Amino acid sequence: MIILKSRQEIEKMKIPNRLVAEVLGEVVKKIKAGISTIELDRLAESLIVKKRGVPAFKGYRGYPNSLCISINEQVVHGIPSSRKLKEGDIVSLDLGIYYDGYYGDAALTVGVGNISQDAERLLDSTRKALYIGIEKAKAGNHLSDISYAIQSYVEGEGFSVVRAFVGHGIGTSLHEDPQVPNFGEAGNGPVLKNGMVIAIEPMVNAGVSDVEVLEDDWTTVTADRSLSAHFEHTVAITDNGAEILTKV
Ligand code: MF3
Ligand code: CO
Repeated sequence: MIILKSRQEIEKMKIPNRLVAEVLGEVVKKIKAGISTIELDRLAESLIVKKRGVPAFKGYRGYPNSLCISINEQVVHGIPSSRKLKEGDIVSLDLGIYYDGYYGDAALTVGVGNISQDAERLLDSTRKALYIGIEKAKAGNHLSDISYAIQSYVEGEGFSVVRAFVGHGIGTSLHEDPQVPNFGEAGNGPVLKNGMVIAIEPMVNAGVSDVEVLEDDWTTVTADRSLSAHFEHTVAITDNGAEILTKV
């Protein structure tokens, strides 16, 4: 069941989502060669607590940390550790925050220092795929118009979209209906309505779309160990079109 939010609820959802954007912005500023991923996680958690939010991922299905940090061929759900970032790495940060009844969720990928042209193109295409999807998030469109727009753009760039994970509705739960795949034909699924709030999150691989989960039961990597990028925004569908709630 898709839960429609009132204007008042969407206003309340702006808080956790703004906090997500602010914390991601602060963490991104600290990204440089030599910093460990656990330091980034600790920074995120202390900022969340200072802002009176609650880290939404910590404890979610047993996930141990506040931030998911996925490096290079890691697609999503990388667990922070003593591993240090290196020049040329690409790093995906995924963050969820709970505040006063509602959740916010966003992700982005950045480079550490100078990165290869291929990596730069993967990041640019994945970010652009997210915005192409967001443009389709308006009342009257079908849900899969978002999915189709993302997949066709990404494949046209010579990259692939991950099938194993999808975007989602969000509100009083981190994951609500509907699922928002990054692949599919246009014109399918529910008709989008004002009051729907969804997290759109293309995960894009430089090589094959298949992924594997490592021994830690969380870290998801590309099957061919090619690079992967991830961008996510939480978006409210309103009279004014798609309002991005996780923008600073
Ligand atoms: N970031 C994922 C999402 O966007 C959720 C991560 S859940 C966690 O839906 F368990 F890894 F924390
Ligand atoms: Co999400």
